[in-house]
Amino acid sequence: MTRSQALLNWIDERFPLTKLWKEHLSEYYAPKNFNFWYYFGSLALLVLVLQIVTGIFLTMNYKPDAAQAFGSVEYIMRDVPGGWLIRYMHSTGASMFFVVVYLHMFRALLYGSHRKPRELIWVLGVMIYLCLMAEAFFGYLLPWGQMSYWGAQVIVNLFGAVPIIGEDLAVWIRGDYVVSDATLNRFFAFHVIAIPLVLLGLVVAHIIALHEVGSNNPDGIEIKKTKDANGKPLDGIPFHPYYTVKDMVGVVVFLAVFSFIIFFAPEMGGYFLEYNNFVPADPLKTPTHIAPVWYFTPYYAMLRAVPAFLGSQFWGVLVMGAAVLIFFLLPWLDRSPVKSIRYRGPYYKIALTVFVISFLVLGWLGVKPTDFLGKIGGMDTAVILARLFTLVYFLFFLLMPWYSRIDSHKPEPKRLTH
Ligand code: HEM
Repeated sequence: MTRSQALLNWIDERFPLTKLWKEHLSEYYAPKNFNFWYYFGSLALLVLVLQIVTGIFLTMNYKPDAAQAFGSVEYIMRDVPGGWLIRYMHSTGASMFFVVVYLHMFRALLYGSHRKPRELIWVLGVMIYLCLMAEAFFGYLLPWGQMSYWGAQVIVNLFGAVPIIGEDLAVWIRGDYVVSDATLNRFFAFHVIAIPLVLLGLVVAHIIALHEVGSNNPDGIEIKKTKDANGKPLDGIPFHPYYTVKDMVGVVVFLAVFSFIIFFAPEMGGYFLEYNNFVPADPLKTPTHIAPVWYFTPYYAMLRAVPAFLGSQFWGVLVMGAAVLIFFLLPWLDRSPVKSIRYRGPYYKIALTVFVISFLVLGWLGVKPTDFLGKIGGMDTAVILARLFTLVYFLFFLLMPWYSRIDSHKPEPKRLTH
């Protein structure tokens, strides 16, 4: 027995290292036909690690103090060796996290990965998505620029729209009557430890749930149904080495794109780092146009689309919240007898296309001021469009039990198609 074998045995008698390795990698059987869309789970893991590591290094020089925060970020950018790279990796990583996660979620909608028996993987995924949003929101206040300040002001004020307790709730969140040093300190605490802990726990649970039921695939059929004499799925291959190697290809391409952005366009035309945020926060000067970062803009467009009723923005807040929370219900709204889009009929294909278009249009409208398309009949054209697409967005979910049931479908194959 070699020394390394002896060491491994020693560990295995005390900790199930080989058992875990086999269960989750070398003997975890994944469908043979994973395609492009299956890169984004492992890429989300990569970005998560990158954000945590770069975040730790940023924290070493960042000061969570309203008088010093903006200056400490400038110090990181100009004086800390390699600080600019760490900071750009973290700011670009935040946007890329959402790019990767949106594509990852879209894959589920393509192949029915949210459907039985993977409902819990999906539900945990939506919880991860909520955590990511909270993480991004808290983090955005930290550089203490004009957009950080006024963005937080606008969003926390939304809680003020909740009936009866609203005003107290907003003060409780801020820790003050306006966004201030107290707010910065608590947002820092949430951003660097509270939310990341929850996020990590959820990601672990997400993977455990996935490995319990097994991965879905582009054909949307269960590979566990056809096994060989040894009980191995005939259409499966061990995750390691096959998919660890395949995922490396995704990692290399991703890192090339990531590096290109960091080195040539870290602000991404004001979408990844907003120009107004290079101006220090000024509580006495409201910017003329306040817009959240691009990944929140579909929801922001919905918020602005709903008219204030009796002087309260509450309904807009409700619609915005419902737009995110409705994702939880997806596994139960979908009644199609087949999972993958390959075997579904035209209704689902049209609904999904229209849904994606509405999400993109809302995202675009949310970036712009409400009057940027002029007026029709005295009303902002952009607001009319936002209302229309908000309706389309919700109809995708609300009508799903109906159109997914009556839609035609092709018979699913018994085995993977290639
Ligand atoms: C930090 C964020 C996330 C990480 C690190 C992550 C990680 C992963 C990984 C590694 C896989 C297996 C590989 C793959 O299928 O691509 C996976 C599968 C899955 N994830 Fe995520 N995920 C994240 C967020 C989400 C979100 C936000 C959702 C949905 C709202 C989601 C839904 C799913 C589903 C349904 C599957 C099963 C896919 C299938 O088997 O076809 N995930 N996730």
